[in-house]
Formats: sequence, structure tokens, C-alpha cells
Amino acid sequence: LISGPDALQTFGVWLAQSDFAKGAVLCDEFTAEQCLPLVRNAAPLLNSWPVLVVPRGEACKSLQEATNLWQQLTDYRIGRNDLLINLGGGSLTDLGGFVASTYLRGIAFVHIATTLLGMVDAALGGKTAVDLGPVKNRVGTTVFPERTVCDPVFLKTLLEEAWLDGLAESAKHALVGDAGLWKIISDSHNVKQTLVANLERIQAVKLRVVEQDPFEKDLRMMLNFGHSIGHAIESCALEAELKLISHGRAVAMGMVFESRIASQMGLLSDTDGDAIAAFITRHFGVPGLSWMNPDRLMHFLRLDKKNNGRTIRMSLPERIGSCRTGVEVSEEVVLSVLLENSTRT
Ligand SMILES: NC(=O)c1ccc[n+]([C@@H]2O[C@H](COP(=O)([O-])OP(=O)(O)OC[C@H]3O[C@@H](n4cnc5c(N)ncnc54)[C@H](O)[C@@H]3O)[C@@H](O)[C@H]2O)c1
Repeated sequence: LISGPDALQTFGVWLAQSDFAKGAVLCDEFTAEQCLPLVRNAAPLLNSWPVLVVPRGEACKSLQEATNLWQQLTDYRIGRNDLLINLGGGSLTDLGGFVASTYLRGIAFVHIATTLLGMVDAALGGKTAVDLGPVKNRVGTTVFPERTVCDPVFLKTLLEEAWLDGLAESAKHALVGDAGLWKIISDSHNVKQTLVANLERIQAVKLRVVEQDPFEKDLRMMLNFGHSIGHAIESCALEAELKLISHGRAVAMGMVFESRIASQMGLLSDTDGDAIAAFITRHFGVPGLSWMNPDRLMHFLRLDKKNNGRTIRMSLPERIGSCRTGVEVSEEVVLSVLLENSTRT
């Protein structure tokens, strides 16, 4: 991981000294225009590399886009020892990592993350994915990049909603693995500045967990805190044809519900549960969930990947800074927390 204000320069030096003389750069329409010039400035070698451009956001994570890219890599005669550089947010690095890890049975790749969510989460940990139709992340690999580069220079252009997406995952990292970091983030009066100043500490939580359990046998599941209900909320919103709820916002709501479930099961103190809910409300507002049908939410929850057979399993906090994985949760508890908290809002 190359992270911090000098990251692009360090990457330029690394590339110049590496054995990679040839490769391609993958961008979306935004990063090709706004971010690529900065990268080329730091790594002039890239001026002669072909640039492959895909649509912005989740739309690029399709098998169709992957097929187009495999074809373009072939046309540019990118070979076994060449390098693909993925320059963008989480959608682009998910796609680019997938394409690189499957083309010619796998070529080397580098992620240069340009969103906060990418820097603290998506570009770390080696998971790659494309969506299968409407089903998110259905097809993918776990393969680690040569380098992940995170330079905060890119964050200057980030939109408000994208800051919130990054905040949600950063808060989650703190809640599952670093109580001191949680205090710093939750006490902050300038949360953007605090996130940038603590970038490496936020990344350290995920890196530590992934190092111990790269293929998500158990420990890594703790990073899914907030995601069981978060994903179910995203699916409900999709089904209800609402404006798509951003992933970060859904995870933030998921963390509130799952903390309440943990409290109701006697795992988490009410004080910690209240602190988590207050933080989320302060940054994300009070979620209006009257549109959500609890039966449909339960339906999507039952499909969650962490479940074992018919039992719902979640990663739940035991206290701030610590999380227990694989906790069996009864449908009654989930429903009662859902009903109580949905009617409150
Ligand atoms: N692989 C993993 O472990 C992992 C973890 C978390 C999330 N993800 C995935 O990440 C994706 C979401 O990623 P994201 O939130 O980074 O968004 P994104 O990659 O979908 O990008 C969102 C928008 O931000 C724009 N953008 C990129 N950099 C920018 C910048 N510097 N300034 C302004 N705009 C910029 C993009 O062009 C795009 O329009 C989802 O597909 C999710 O599934 C993957």
C-alpha cells in the first residue's frame, strides 16, 4: 500500500524502477479527464500507454464491459508480463481487478483509488467483482494487486454523497477494530479533514483483518458489520423502484439496526448502541423508512451470503472497537428491531 500525500510521486518512482515497460491504464469518463493528467505527471512512462475508458459508476461492473476490455487488451497486445493500472473509485477497481485477474489467466495490476471509499475499502483486500444482471458482485475473484496507491489529492473533487459513502465504511472499520479511531472520528467537528488525516489508521483496520483471513473464512466477516441489513435495504429500494440508495447510506442504516439487534440480544450495551445511532443520525439524517416493507427486507436478509442454511447470521458489535462474527440471530429479534426503529422514523 502506498498511501498519503506523496503517494503518486512514490508510485511514479516505483513504476520507473519496476520491470513493467508495457501495459494499459483503465479509467472511467471522469478519471480519464480529471485524474489521469496527475498520474501521468508523476509517472511519465504512462504517456505512451493505451487508455481504456468505461462508463462511470456501478454501470461499468458488467460482463459486457469485461468482455470489451479483454478484447481491447488483446488488440493492444498486452501480454503475460504487462501491467493494468486501474484508476478510479470502487466500481472501476472492482472491474479492473476482475479483468486483470482473468485475462491470460491473470496479469499484474495496480489500483490507484480516487474515491474515499476506494481508499479505505474497495481497493484494499483483493476482492474483485462484476455484477450479474441486477445481482451485485455475483462473479469475481480474490487476487491482490502489485500496489494500491491512495493519494488524497484526488479527494478535492469528491461530491458530498461520496464523502458519506467513505465515512460510513471508515466508521465501520473503527467500530469493528479500533475504539480509539472511533473516538477521533465521532468527536470530530470537521469530519472530512479528520478522515484524510487518519487515512492510514483507517486502512490499517482492514489490512490487519485481511492479512489474517484473506479468503474470508471467519475473521474477515467482521468487515460485514452493517452490511446484512444494509444490502437488504439496498435491494428493497431497488425493488420499490426508489431512487437508488447509496451503498454508504444503506450500510449506515444497517449499522444502526444491527447495533440495536446486538443490544437486544445482550451483546452490546445500550450506551454504545445509542452512541452509534446518534453518530449516524448526525451525519446521515434520520432515515425515512416508511416505504420499506419488512417482509421483503426479511426475504432479502435470508439470501445473505453469511447465512448458514436457514439461520440468519450476522457480524455484530460486542462493544465499540470489537465485533463478533457468525452470530445466529432469530427472525423475531430482527423483525421487532425493524418494526420498532422503522415506526420511530
Ligand atoms: N472490492 C471490495 O472489497 C469493495 C468494498 C467496498 C465497495 N466496493 C464496491 O465499490 C463500488 C462503489 O465505489 P465508489 O463509492 O468508490 O464509487 P464509484 O467507483 O461507483 O464511483 C462513483 C462516481 O464517482 C466518480 N469519481 C471517481 N473518483 C472521483 C473523484 N476523485 N472526484 C469526483 N468524482 C469521482 C466516478 O466517476 C463515479 O461517477 C461498489 O460497486 C461496491 O460494490 C468494493
